[in-house]
Amino acid sequence: MCGIIGYVGKKRALPILVEGLTAMEYRGYDSAGVCLQDSGLVRVRASGKIENLRERLSQQSLGGTSGIAHTRWATHGIPDEANAHPHLDCEGQVAIVHNGIVENYRELREELEAAGHTLTSQTDSEVLAHLIETELQTSSGLTAIRRALKQVRGTYGLVVMFKDVPQTLFVARMGSPLVIGVGRQEHYIASDPSAILVHTRDVIFLDDGELAAVSVEGVTLMNLDQSVPKKQVERVTWEVATAKKNGEAHFMLKEILEQPEVIENSTRGRIDMIGTRAVLGGLRDVSDSLKEIDRIIIVGCGSAYYAGLVGEYLFEELAGIPVEVELASEFRYRKPIISTRTAVLAISQSGETADTLEAIREAKRKHALTLGLVNVVGSSVARETDAGVYNHAGPEVGVASTKAFLSQLTVLTLMSIYLGQLRRSLSQQKAGEVLAALYEIPNQIQEILRERSQVSAIVDRHRNMTNCLFLGRKYQAPIAYESALKMKEVSYVHAEGYSCGEMKHGPIALIDKSFPSVVLCPEDSVFEKTRSNMEELQARGGSIIAVTTNAQLVSHLCEDVIVIPETLECLQPLLSVIPMQLLAYEMAIARNFDPDRPRNLAKSVTVE
Ligand code: F6R
Repeated sequence: MCGIIGYVGKKRALPILVEGLTAMEYRGYDSAGVCLQDSGLVRVRASGKIENLRERLSQQSLGGTSGIAHTRWATHGIPDEANAHPHLDCEGQVAIVHNGIVENYRELREELEAAGHTLTSQTDSEVLAHLIETELQTSSGLTAIRRALKQVRGTYGLVVMFKDVPQTLFVARMGSPLVIGVGRQEHYIASDPSAILVHTRDVIFLDDGELAAVSVEGVTLMNLDQSVPKKQVERVTWEVATAKKNGEAHFMLKEILEQPEVIENSTRGRIDMIGTRAVLGGLRDVSDSLKEIDRIIIVGCGSAYYAGLVGEYLFEELAGIPVEVELASEFRYRKPIISTRTAVLAISQSGETADTLEAIREAKRKHALTLGLVNVVGSSVARETDAGVYNHAGPEVGVASTKAFLSQLTVLTLMSIYLGQLRRSLSQQKAGEVLAALYEIPNQIQEILRERSQVSAIVDRHRNMTNCLFLGRKYQAPIAYESALKMKEVSYVHAEGYSCGEMKHGPIALIDKSFPSVVLCPEDSVFEKTRSNMEELQARGGSIIAVTTNAQLVSHLCEDVIVIPETLECLQPLLSVIPMQLLAYEMAIARNFDPDRPRNLAKSVTVE
């Protein structure tokens, strides 16, 4: 959510900044802007996508070897040019780009205005430029920034440029990630390391409460309490897989289509078919603690939370461990009862979701073992948890999660087997059955993708629908929730996900001819019960789209059937979710919406 990039060195800054912004555009596309040191601070901003900014920039020739840039996902203030970053102080002495939220910005703004400052945007961020301006009267550089930040409540990843200090950028972090890339006589700053790894692999990850002055010559670090942090330059060894559409019309489609390969990547080296074992090196160091735990709490947001709900069934069935799944955004507002025998598992594609990070921090404060299931290597969740497993799904650019969700389910399956074996609660035979069935999943997904026309035909018939119910039972209930989320996100059809059993407790009142239901009804252990629910829908005139492994058993009840291959009940979510992703994608296309840039959304929600 929002992307920051900065450069100071000997090269022309502008192309580096624009390239960095482009790599991070999926983090927000409400507006974008740059500010360069080119005989003073020169700022160019534009509302909307980065291509609008690029067009503005093409009309002028800007030099300068240092600068900052930002792509915005609006929190405070409408997405127009006046609210675009960078923001300046009254005198044009200070330029800032900011990720996060200044929670007390109203009070600060009132005080600043009373003291004669004129603020020109509706954003919370702009107060930072003015607070620093005030502090410049009595101090300079990092000290002025530190004093300004002392007045701020909230979160920030902040980069500051001073007109009078042309070859230095100043940075500060509290709850919003920032990394400094170390080059030869040059430094980069980014909110997302992957935006600078094309330039350098030597980085300093800032931690909360740290500030730095970054110049051509070097980096000077300081804590908010003025102590000096001890930090190492770390070498990033992971590859930045280039996020390209591979000839597909959208990232979302490309990411749906590559899911057979994603499962192979998520399981590579992690299945030992000879020893019938799941091998998870990332959990090895905490294996003794994992033997002792008596409960797992899974935390996540959105799709990651729904993956956690599937994980609950998996862990309980395969590892015999009690599991609770919590929305990370609510977790810490309760008084979660956590003991040293609780493991808290954070699921997050980006590893930067603010609520998920806070949930993990709360768990750490209570001395729980913290685990991460994260896609982005080196992200905050990955760094802050005691141990974890990466998805290895490759970069997910589509704002709506597809392949990351699927790889979360895959890794949760492996984790359940790993824990079941570690704790001797899973038989070798059962582990073998699940691993063998998992091995078949990529081919089975391929089969579903080949039959994509099943979904297109349904979209043709239902493209004008305004409401839709998604229903599932047991392992399929979380897939119903996830399917509804996908549908709302990209096609703007109002969709509700319910477990079948809950339907009679309220939602069935909605059903009539114009309110279709998608029922996930593979022939599993709860099939008969799910089919009864379909009878109930039919009796009320509701049209049904069935997603099943056996069309014969349900075709008399529904208008449309999507057939998927059969696998073990615990793995069936890996297959049933695929046509649901396609349904959401194709519905967006049929309704003329851009599924890669759904309105009001951004990838990686770094504010609470
Ligand atoms: C939905 C979607 C979001 C994310 C959620 C958590 O398609 O993408 O609901 O799943 O914002 O994001 P991460 O996994 O990055 O923590």
